[in-house]
Amino acid sequence: MSSPKKLSINSIKKAKNERLLTVITAYDALFATLFEESADIILVGDSLNMSFNGKADTLSATLDQMIYHTNAVCRGAKNTFVICDMPFGTYNNDEEALKNAIRVYQESPADAIKIEGGKEKAALVRNLCKHGIAVCGHIGLLPQSVRAEGGYLVKGKTPHDIEKLIEDAEAIEDAGVFCLVVEGVKAEAAKLIADAVKIPVIGIGAGNGVDGQVLVFSDMLGLFEAFTPKFVKKYMDGSTLVKEAVKSFKNEIENRTFPQQEHTY
Ligand code: KIV
Repeated sequence: MSSPKKLSINSIKKAKNERLLTVITAYDALFATLFEESADIILVGDSLNMSFNGKADTLSATLDQMIYHTNAVCRGAKNTFVICDMPFGTYNNDEEALKNAIRVYQESPADAIKIEGGKEKAALVRNLCKHGIAVCGHIGLLPQSVRAEGGYLVKGKTPHDIEKLIEDAEAIEDAGVFCLVVEGVKAEAAKLIADAVKIPVIGIGAGNGVDGQVLVFSDMLGLFEAFTPKFVKKYMDGSTLVKEAVKSFKNEIENRTFPQQEHTY
């Protein structure tokens, strides 16, 4: 089946009032190709270091790694809008952020980058946008702050917290982001954020009142066994399917029923 036309920044922004956006992570060409038919946007998330590389959190992801995986995803999904996550420590100030974002654009065909942070990152985001970088924001629970915050803490639980989140969303919208990931936020708060801004708000653990959803692919395919956050729905039991397939392979090797005539030259 042919893939739908690749979305542009403008069509992503316009989707806010027209339809809900489907966003999924991918880290390689193999899976990116499989996702292309249904995904509006593929995010090369720094979650790759947890779901693919067995690390405890995302903080060890490097820019080289992100660029390598973004290239693989773009090769697999040539017709899909791809966002590259800027890893921890690569956007601490305007100069560093711009230098590293330019590296992503020069060394991969990524359509945009993603940066974690709210109001405190607004000036930095404005500078990136001014220099021709398309930026997706990310507020609420910020995985890159997990060590500083002492865990993955759900946000938007108090009126003060909700007010701060809305201020964050408005500040980075004003700075120029074209869409915004809102993670780990009470559903009522996420809906208020989505209502407060004109750009699409993509939720993850943020309830059903936003403008689209993103999940980490290895979670939603049931491949990641280490833990399952409450917000994850497993659309298939990938780990069982994979284990059963490999067990069948082993059994057939051991009892000489593989390869058969049709697999033999
Ligand atoms: O790294 C990632 O996969 C992300 C999503 C959780 C939004 O940032």
